[in-house]
Amino acid sequence: MMEWSDRHCRSFHRILSKEAILYTEMVNSGAIIFGDKARHLDFDKNEHPVVLQLGGSEPEDIAKAASIGQQWGYDQIDLNCGCPSERVQRGSFGACLMREPELVATCVKAMKEATDIPISVKHRLGLDEMNPAENIQDYQFVLNFILKVAEMGASQVTIHARNAILKGLSPKENRTVPPLRYEVAKQLRLDVKKDFPDFKVILNGGLENNADIARHWDDFDGFMIGRAAYHHPAILIGWDRLIQSGGKDYGYFLNENVWLEIQEKIITYTQSWYRECQQKNQPFHIGSITRHILGLAYGLAGARHWRQVLSDHRILHQVQSEKSIRDFFESASQNLRIFSADNEELTLLVGTEE
Ligand SMILES: Cc1cc2nc3c(=O)[nH]c(=O)nc-3n(C[C@H](O)[C@H](O)[C@H](O)COP(=O)(O)O)c2cc1C
Repeated sequence: MMEWSDRHCRSFHRILSKEAILYTEMVNSGAIIFGDKARHLDFDKNEHPVVLQLGGSEPEDIAKAASIGQQWGYDQIDLNCGCPSERVQRGSFGACLMREPELVATCVKAMKEATDIPISVKHRLGLDEMNPAENIQDYQFVLNFILKVAEMGASQVTIHARNAILKGLSPKENRTVPPLRYEVAKQLRLDVKKDFPDFKVILNGGLENNADIARHWDDFDGFMIGRAAYHHPAILIGWDRLIQSGGKDYGYFLNENVWLEIQEKIITYTQSWYRECQQKNQPFHIGSITRHILGLAYGLAGARHWRQVLSDHRILHQVQSEKSIRDFFESASQNLRIFSADNEELTLLVGTEE
């Protein structure tokens, strides 16, 4: 997610779940070819498996960027055909690419030929007034779109299960206003599998907690979680168990031990980033890490104070040594109610009652 899922965000999410597949924000193919590659592409080796998402519509550029992505160590390349922003439309990529399935097919083919890692596409259920739930032509339109990318060698689509409205709605509204149609996405998966049994269809859009994921477990090959993972990252603590149990166990503990274990890993990660900055002679801002973890204490008493400390720039500026990194995190969490003597009562099994 643009401005959100940068390398620090992904490294934090990797601390919470070993098995989740992490995605970069959309990176313009031109930025990769002509821009500062390291700035756009560098990631921590612990992030694997990690997918590079590309934006663009020029097959040659997309193929080149995909190939660079593979050389950089990414595990998969995803093409964005779902972003409705006007800026992206002006560049003729994102969701408006759904209007040009032949061009998308050519891009997929070019990426396939330029790499030997999996290629995938993220898209919407349709554009503007289309209604694939009620109009067979609109359904056939999106089914053909998926079949085409499967034919060209993509191994997966992620369906954001609502339309993109290209005129009149902001990107934010485009994530809430068009109705979610999980049933259509489910049917599309069944229909695509008739011709491509190994093809994966991932559901995205509006999944807010682990109970939501578990409810749809058997109907999809996977789930992409955006806003909920960012705002309430603690749900990721339950994901490895969720995956290992085939969608059955989706609760997770957020107690003192779990918190301390996560906190220790955050400290270790932050210290190693600090060392990297020192080596590269670049400024270290702990705020570029803490901004992604503000939601971790969501729901715990004392969370507000914790969030305030983690975003107080006067405090953050002073954190400029490995020791002060440790002191900072340890003192910030001191007032969370999770560290009460009355531990048993505070051992939360979160997420099971939804
Ligand atoms: C701030 C923000 C940035 C986003 N950037 C991207 C992006 O770069 N690529 C992409 O495929 N989707 C992007 N999205 C859309 C999400 O990936 C996702 O499709 C959408 O939010 C619906 O899923 P959710 O309900 O789980 O959040 C973004 C969403 C947000 C809120």
